[in-house]
Amino acid sequence: MKVCMIGTGYVGLVSGTCFAEIGHEVICVDNDTSKIDILKKGGIPIYEPGLDELVKKNVQAGRLSFTSDTGEGVDKSQFVFIAVGTPPKDNGEPDLSSIEQVAIEIGAAMRDYKIIIEKSTVPVQTGQWVRMVVERFNKHGSEFDVASNPEFLREGSAINDFLFPDRIVLGVESKRAEEKLLELYRPIEAPKIVTDIASAELIKHASNSFLSTKISFMNALSVICEKSGADVTKVAEGMGLDKRIGRDFLNAGAGFGGFCFPKDLKAFIGISAKLGYDFRLLKEVENINDEQMQRVVKKVEELLWNLRDKKIGVLGLAFKPNTDDMRFAPSITIINRLIDEGATIKAYDPVSMKRAKKIMPNITYCENAYDVAADVDAIILVTEWSEFGKMDLQKVKKAMRQPVFVDGRNVFEPEKMKKLGFIYSGIGR
Ligand code: UGA
Repeated sequence: MKVCMIGTGYVGLVSGTCFAEIGHEVICVDNDTSKIDILKKGGIPIYEPGLDELVKKNVQAGRLSFTSDTGEGVDKSQFVFIAVGTPPKDNGEPDLSSIEQVAIEIGAAMRDYKIIIEKSTVPVQTGQWVRMVVERFNKHGSEFDVASNPEFLREGSAINDFLFPDRIVLGVESKRAEEKLLELYRPIEAPKIVTDIASAELIKHASNSFLSTKISFMNALSVICEKSGADVTKVAEGMGLDKRIGRDFLNAGAGFGGFCFPKDLKAFIGISAKLGYDFRLLKEVENINDEQMQRVVKKVEELLWNLRDKKIGVLGLAFKPNTDDMRFAPSITIINRLIDEGATIKAYDPVSMKRAKKIMPNITYCENAYDVAADVDAIILVTEWSEFGKMDLQKVKKAMRQPVFVDGRNVFEPEKMKKLGFIYSGIGR
C-alpha cells in the first residue's frame, strides 16, 4: 500500500521507515530541505538505535524515498500521515500551525480519495479542524477521510515499539477508513482498537499523563521512603508484582523529561481547563516532578555543605539513556541550579554532548566518566547509561577530590557504594 509520511522527526522517520519495513511503499516528506538532503545522501538527521540500517535497507529495496515536495508525496499515496512537530507555545499550549499548513497543502494537492491521519500528538478535537481545513482547500473536490492513529514510540526503542506494539489505536469516522487502516496494519500482530477520532486522541493524552502520574507517585513516595527508612526500589518491586499495577514506570529518580511527558502534561492540563475542568491531579504531577529535580540539587548541597566554588561532575545529560535528545532533560534544570549556586560543572554523556553544548556552553565537557571524576567534589548521576553501571568505581573514587556520589537513577547498591568508601545518596533508599 502507498503511504506518505509528512514530517521526518523522530515519529515520522521511524514510522515511515517501519511502514516500509512491513512491505509498504513509503514516501517521507519534510519542508526542511537540509533534512531531506541528509536522508537522500543516506544519512540520518537524528539518533535512534537501529534506524540507520533500517532506512538503508528499505531505500535499497525501493520501498522508501524522500522528498521536500508535499504535493508529490500526497499524489503518490493513499494514506497521508501528519507527523509534524507541535512544539509548546509560551503558554504551554501546543502550536498547531504546522498541522494547519500541512492540512492546507494536502487539501490543495489531493486528486483522489485519501485517508489523512494524525500521527503527531495533538489536542482532542484537532481531527475536526483538520477536516475543516482540508475541506476548504480541497481544490479538486476529492473524497477523503480523517483519522487519528496516535504513536506510542519511546525514543531509544522506537523501532521495536512500532513493530511490536502493545496496541494499535485507530480513531476513524467511516467504515471505509477503518477497513483500509486495518489492512495497512495487518502485518503487525497486536490488538487493534478502533474508536471515534476524539477517543483516539484522548487515549494518547491519557496514556502519557497516566505514565507521568506513575513516575511522580513514585518520586513522592521516595521522599516518604527516605524519611521512614524504607527502600523505594523494594517498594516498587512489591507493588509491581500486583498485575493491576505492573512494575513498569515505577522507578523513582531525578524526574522525568523529554519532549513528550512534560509538554503533553502541560498541554493536557490546558486542554482540560479549556473544556471546563481543572485537572488538579495532573498539576500536582507536574509540581512533584519539578521538586524532584530540585531535591537532587538539595542532596548534593546537604552532603557538601556549600555549593559555592565546588566542582560537580555530572554523568549523563540526555533525558534518558539511548537517545541524544536533550529536550526538557532534567540535567539542564539540575545543572543550571548548581551554577546559580556558584558551582562549576564537568559533564559527560556518551551521545548527547554535541546537542548539550548548544544549550549549556558554560560547562566543561569530558571524554569519559573518569575525566568527569577527576578532582570533583561530588558526582551526580542523572542519566542511567549502561556504561555507568560498569565503571571501575575504585578508579572513580580515587580521582575525586571528595567521594560524594548522588545517584539520581538508583544505578548502584547503597551498601556496596558505602563499602567502597563513597558518601553515597540514592533516591528514596
Ligand atoms: C514517552 C512514552 O513512553 C511513549 O509511549 C510515547 O509515545 C512518547 O512519550 C511520546 O509521546 O511520543 P519517551 O518520552 O521517549 O516516551 O520516554 P520514556 O521512556 O517514556 O521516558 C520519559 C521520561 O520518564 C524519562 O526522562 C525517563 O527517565 C523517565 N522515567 C521513566 C522515570 O523517571 N521513571 C520510570 O520509571 C520511567
